[in-house]
Amino acid sequence: MAGFLDEVAPLKATALAEFQAAADLPGLEQARVNSLGSHGRFTALMKQLGTLPKDEKPAAGKTINAAKLELEAALAARRVELELKAALPKEPTDFTLPGRRRLLGKLHPLTQITEDIVRSFRKIGFVVADGPEVEDEYHCFDALNTPADHPARDAQDTFYLAGPGGARQSSSLLRTHTSSVQIRVMKKQSPPVRIIVPGRVYRRDNADATHNPTFHQVEGLYVDRNVTVGDLKGTVEFVFKELMGPETRIRFRPHYFSYTEPSFEIDFSSALTRKMGKEWLEIAGCGMVHPQVFENVGYDPETWSGWAFGFGIERIAMIRYGINDIRLFYENDLRFLRQF
Ligand code: DAH
Repeated sequence: MAGFLDEVAPLKATALAEFQAAADLPGLEQARVNSLGSHGRFTALMKQLGTLPKDEKPAAGKTINAAKLELEAALAARRVELELKAALPKEPTDFTLPGRRRLLGKLHPLTQITEDIVRSFRKIGFVVADGPEVEDEYHCFDALNTPADHPARDAQDTFYLAGPGGARQSSSLLRTHTSSVQIRVMKKQSPPVRIIVPGRVYRRDNADATHNPTFHQVEGLYVDRNVTVGDLKGTVEFVFKELMGPETRIRFRPHYFSYTEPSFEIDFSSALTRKMGKEWLEIAGCGMVHPQVFENVGYDPETWSGWAFGFGIERIAMIRYGINDIRLFYENDLRFLRQF
């Protein structure tokens, strides 16, 4: 046996001891380089294999290889131990410390108001309907009896989306009101219809204390036989008493909307309006569905009658909570949001 084979056992023992002694991963790497690196002690030993006579090589190779495998296994095992140690917290955990309280979020005031509105209408048989915020001119205007030359269609009034190839002209637009959903629902189902549509709408308004380019509306639509303005007024009164307090009063003023005839604006009066220094505050638009709108969706205006209304959710929230700037709803300032 060549003399250098006597060194295998002590070198192995030294290497194993160094692996075990390594306190961290860099230390372990140093220990590996010392023995198994290209200039390591164990590697030097293996290089001497070539100097042996041919008949001694197999046995010697076997001895060295077995030792090398053992070293590699020990190295891998120690590496796992040290990795685990590195992942553990440096300080011992104190299980007697008080728990960390997780802050509970809550619903945005606009969401709370919307849910209140929906809850009130559900009590009297309305269901929630939905429609796209990216609309086309047909549903937003034409089908609502609002012809191309109507001022509401002025490009100033909304955001048009670019057409194919970035062309400026396109009939896709961000909806200016939730009234478009009236058309979508009536096209899909036959009467009777009893829906409300809460949703986001878009206008080319500059933001100030009472305007924002995006805001929210609730649309209502009721279609059946022999529906009257009395039904409309009773329904609006019921919901507003629920939202604004039991002594709330409602009044209708004549107005114009192209999709209703007759049309009204709704004012309400309550302790809240008096707190704002006014007896009556304008709150919504409404009217009896125009016969042309029924024609457009394929309802027979001789058989069916109905009413519709629309109002802004922000405005309701501002009056109810005494908020003086609409932009507060969108700034995500927790000092504001925590108050609701
Ligand atoms: N769409 C109107 C607006 O955005 C509100 C409105 C008025 C809706 C009368 C209606 C309605 O359904 O009948 O100002």
